[in-house]
Amino acid sequence: MDYLPIFIDLRHGESLVVGAGEVARRKIETLVRARAQVLVIAKEACPSVQAMHDAGDIVLELRAFKPRDIDCASIVVAATSDHELNEKIAERAKALRIPVNVVDAPLLCSFIMPSIIDRSPVVIAISTGGAAPVLARALRAKLETSIPASYGRLAELMRDFRERVRTKITNSVNRRRFWEQAVTGSVAERMFEGKYDQALAALENLLSASADAPPQGEVYLVGGGPGDPDLLTFRALRLMQQAEVVVYDRLVAPQIVDLCRKDAERIFVGKQANDHALDQLEINALLVDLARQGKRVLRLKGGDPFIFGRGGEEIATLAEQGIAFQIVPGITAASGCAAYAGIPLTHRDYAQQCVFVTAHQQNGKIDLPWDSLVRTQQTLAIYMGMRSLKELSTALVEHGMSPNVPAAIIERGTTPEQRVIVGTVATLSEKAAQARCVAPSIVIIGEVVNLRRQLAWYESKTRMTK
Ligand SMILES: C[S@@+](CC[C@H](N)C(=O)[O-])C[C@H]1O[C@@H](n2cnc3c(N)ncnc32)[C@H](O)[C@@H]1O
Repeated sequence: MDYLPIFIDLRHGESLVVGAGEVARRKIETLVRARAQVLVIAKEACPSVQAMHDAGDIVLELRAFKPRDIDCASIVVAATSDHELNEKIAERAKALRIPVNVVDAPLLCSFIMPSIIDRSPVVIAISTGGAAPVLARALRAKLETSIPASYGRLAELMRDFRERVRTKITNSVNRRRFWEQAVTGSVAERMFEGKYDQALAALENLLSASADAPPQGEVYLVGGGPGDPDLLTFRALRLMQQAEVVVYDRLVAPQIVDLCRKDAERIFVGKQANDHALDQLEINALLVDLARQGKRVLRLKGGDPFIFGRGGEEIATLAEQGIAFQIVPGITAASGCAAYAGIPLTHRDYAQQCVFVTAHQQNGKIDLPWDSLVRTQQTLAIYMGMRSLKELSTALVEHGMSPNVPAAIIERGTTPEQRVIVGTVATLSEKAAQARCVAPSIVIIGEVVNLRRQLAWYESKTRMTK
C-alpha cells in the first residue's frame, strides 16, 4: 500500500483551496460535502464557485495568494493553473507539516483525494494511488449501482439504537452478535426494501428478544477445497467472515486463510506425515475448549472435511460434548484436481465408477482391497500415495492390472503451480522421481487419463496469464 486510507474530521479547522476554476470546484464540492470550513483564494472564480460563496457554503477571497495564507490551515488544496505556484504552495505546506493535495501532480501531494461513494454515514473511498483514476471511477460506478442508498439509513438507525443496545446487552460478544443479526437479517432486509418503519419494528423486536446470557460457542467444520479460493462455497465464505477463531491445517492455501475475518484469531494445527503441530486428540480438545469459551470457531480443512480429512472424529467429540456445529462440504482433491487437469473421473466409454482410496501407510505397509481396485471401466483416485508409489503400482500389477493402464500425478492441483505428470502404472513412480514431485499430489489411474490430451485447459490458461 502506498497510501493509508483515513477519514478526517474537517468540521473544525480551516480547509484552504487555492484556485477557483472548474478543477478546483470539484475539490471544493467534496470538502463542502464533508462539512469542512472552506476558504478559497483566487484571483477570479468560475460561476459555480462564486455561487457556493453566495449561498454561504464557502468563504471566497478574490485576491493573489500569499504564503502566509497557509499557516492556519488544517489541509491545503492547490488547484491553480499555474504549475510553479502550485509547487510553491506544496513546498510551504510540507515545511509546515500541513497535508497538501496538488491537483494532477501526485508527486507533489502528501495526500490524495479518493473516488467516493457517499451513503453517509457510510462512506466508501477508492483509490488507485494515482495510477489509474479511470479504473477507480469505473469501480465506483460498479459499486454505486450495487450498494443501495438505504445503507446510509440503516447505519443511522443502528447509530440511534447504539446506546440502548449497549445498556441492555452488556456482554461485548453478545452485542456484536446482536448487530450481526441485525445487518444480515430482517432489519436490513426491510430497510433495503425501503420499509423504514418495519425495519425499526424489527430492530425493536430483536432487542426485546435478546438476552444477556453468556454467549454460546459453536464450531463450523468447513472444507476449503483443494487450493483455488474461487472453489470455496458461498456458505464457507460467509462462515469464514463470521468466525472469531480459525483453526486451520497445512493443506489450506494461505490465500484461503486470508479470506477469513481480519480480526479473527488464527491457530495453525498443521499436519504433515510424522510432524504434527497438534495431534488429533489435541485438536479435538482445542475445538471443545474454544467453543466452551463462547467463541464461534471455524475449523478449516483442505478439500472436503469428510474425505480423508478426519472431520468425522472432530465432530464426534463435539457431539459428545453437546457443542453446536455445522458442516460445510468442500470440493475434494480428486474432483478439483481432475477437473483442472482435464481428466473426467467417469466417462460413458471408459469408466462407470470411480474409487477414492488412501495409500497412507499403517505400520509401514499399505493395506488396500486390491482385487476390488483392479477392475476395468474404473478410475482410481489415490490420496496420500506419493510415498508409496512404487509399492502401489507393483501391488496393482501383481493383482492383475495391466502395466500399460494410463496414470497421472496432479501436483498442487487447482493452483497456479499445478503440474500434471502422465505415464502408465508401470512408469509413474520413475516419472515422479524424475519430475521431483512435491506435496500435495494426487494419483489418478484409469483409461480416462488419456482424455487429457484433448481436454487439458488449465495449465495453458495459467501460462497465458502468468
Ligand atoms: C489428508 S488428505 C486430505 C484430503 C482432503 N480432505 C480432500 O478432500 O481433498 C491429503 C491428500 O489430499 C490430496 N490433495 C489435497 N489437496 C491437493 C492438491 N491441491 N493437489 C493435489 N493433491 C491434493 C493429496 O493426495 C494429499 O496427500
